This record gives sequence, C-alpha cells and structure tokens, in this order.
Amino acid sequence: MSHTASFHAIEWHNQQLHLLDQRVLPHQHQVLSYTSAADVADAIRDMVVRGAPAIGITAAYGYALDALAGRDLEAAYKVLAESRPTAVNLFWALERMASLSTVDPHALVAEAKKIHQEDIEANLAMGQFGAALIPEGASVYTHCNTGALATGGHGTALGIIRSAFADQRIKQVYAGETRPWLQGARLTAWELMQDDIPVKLVADGAAAQLFRQGNISWVIVGADRIAANGDTANKIGTYSLAVLAKHHGVKVMVAAPTTTFDLSIASGADIPIEQRPTSEVTSLNGQVIAPEGCDAINPSFDVTPSDLIDAIITEKGMILEPSAETVAMLFAR
Ligand code: MRU
Repeated sequence: MSHTASFHAIEWHNQQLHLLDQRVLPHQHQVLSYTSAADVADAIRDMVVRGAPAIGITAAYGYALDALAGRDLEAAYKVLAESRPTAVNLFWALERMASLSTVDPHALVAEAKKIHQEDIEANLAMGQFGAALIPEGASVYTHCNTGALATGGHGTALGIIRSAFADQRIKQVYAGETRPWLQGARLTAWELMQDDIPVKLVADGAAAQLFRQGNISWVIVGADRIAANGDTANKIGTYSLAVLAKHHGVKVMVAAPTTTFDLSIASGADIPIEQRPTSEVTSLNGQVIAPEGCDAINPSFDVTPSDLIDAIITEKGMILEPSAETVAMLFAR
C-alpha cells in the first residue's frame, strides 16, 4: 500500500535528513537535505514538511542531527519546539527523544527511526478500523492533506480513505482545496491521483452545496491536537465543515494516532492556535492578489467541539461519540 509509494516525504540516509519540499509540489519534485536542528526547525516553520505526525518525526530526526554533530541537545530541543505551536506530535516526539537520557547519536537516530516506523504502523491500523465504518459505494469528503506526505506513510484520514478504497467501499473522494495554503489542491489531489483513487477537487465554499445534494457519507479529517474531552484542532475550515455536516446529516470522522492527543488539556479552548503570516492570505503563489496594504488574519487551525464529531479513529481503536468519558476509556485500555 501507499507507505511504499513512489515518493517519501521524510527519508534518513548518509547521516542526513532528506525532505521532499512540499512548498513546490505537485509541479516540482525537489528534495532538500538537512544536517542541523536549527535548519530542520526552519523547514518545519516554512512548510517544507507539514502535517502533525510528519512534523513530529522530522523533529525527532532534527534532534538526532544535533547529537551527531555533538551540539547542545537542550538548544536543539528548544529551537525545534519553537517551530510550530499547534501539532502536539512535535512536543511528544521531542519529549520522547529527550527522555532517552542519552547523547549517544546512534541511539537517538535509532529512536527517531522507531518513531517513524511506529507512525506507519499506526496509520495502517487506523486504516482498517476507519474503513469498517464506511458503507459500500460511498462518497466521502476530506480536507487539508493527511496522507503519506503528512505522516510517516499511508496517512491518517487519507490512510482510511486508501484502505476503504482498497476494500471497494469508496467510489468517490471530494477534496476541499484548503485555502490559503492549498494542501487539498496541491497535495491531496496529487496523492490520490498517484494511487488512481477517483478525486474531485472542491472549492472550500462549495461544501454546503455538495452536502445538500445528499450523497456524502462521511467527512474524514485528521487532527493536530485532541483535548481530553475530544475537542479537535485541525486545519482551518474543519470546524465549518463539521457544522455544515451536522446540518445536512453527514457524519464526521477524525483520524489521529494517540500521539495527537493532549490529555493535559481539558478542552479545545486551551489549544494554542498558530497564526501564520497574512501574506499567505493576501497572495497566491507569490503573487499579491489583495489590494496593496490590505490587512488580513490567518489562523492556521480551528477547534471542532467533540459533539460535532461522530467518531475518532486511533491505532488503539475507535472512540464513538467522543467525550471526556469515552476518550478516557480508550486510554485506560
Ligand atoms: O498546516 P499543516 O499543513 O501542517 O496542517 C495539517 C493538518 O491540519 C492536518 O489535517 C493534520 O496535521 C493531520 S495530518 C495527518
């Protein structure tokens, strides 16, 4: 399946980290190489690599790079932790690396590889759990990019879509373009087309009209941080989709490994939301589209309350009707 796809978002060889530059996909395939945590932090901030699990894996390799170079690991931790605030996988991965209590570079590289491999395995497990909820012949709607590019491989929401398509449950995927950064148009459409999965690209504003036509079974999305009560931060626009879905009787599925949960946070109100440069809104492909001097806002994520979510799929199983109780039950297993 697609963790053996023809592309790799993240690769480690010759004691260097290699990242497929997601800023220039799908029209250019450029791989950039890294040898320091500071440069890896810049790559995360600038979106060379993005997607919560992929950010965590990349940060782990970034930390290992500074170990290999004999640099200060506390400084490596700090610079990587400051790269992007919302995806908790980043902090989870850094904690796991730092808690090894070793500066042995080979042990740290091995741990980063393990984090990478475990993520692929989690995605394959989620794929099976999530696919089982999808009726045969379904049309589904997804947002942002949650595929092999956003993870160690296979994907979270897109992994479920891949697994369900392989089980002949999905006949059509609708991918929201995901303004302003266009992860849906540039990355999801490309990934699905690589795998010959039927995809139609949708302008974000067309979702309500599509849902009203009544043939979408599920909205399937990923997550950047899930609070203890199931409130879910994901790409800006997810909350609007969940509200629209509720109105039209479309179900909402969130796919995320347990590394995306932050049980220290009681509800979504406390999830930090990244504000990205407003130039991402006022420009398109480097070309200014708004009037000169136009102000803008650019929150990169929003929070969907758990009562708008029908199921959260993890590698340990699924949480139906997410709430503080049902989330706690999954983690108590
Ligand atoms: O800003 P991005 O592209 O890093 O945002 C990505 C998302 O919001 C994804 O839906 C989320 O990280 C899950 S990826 C498996």
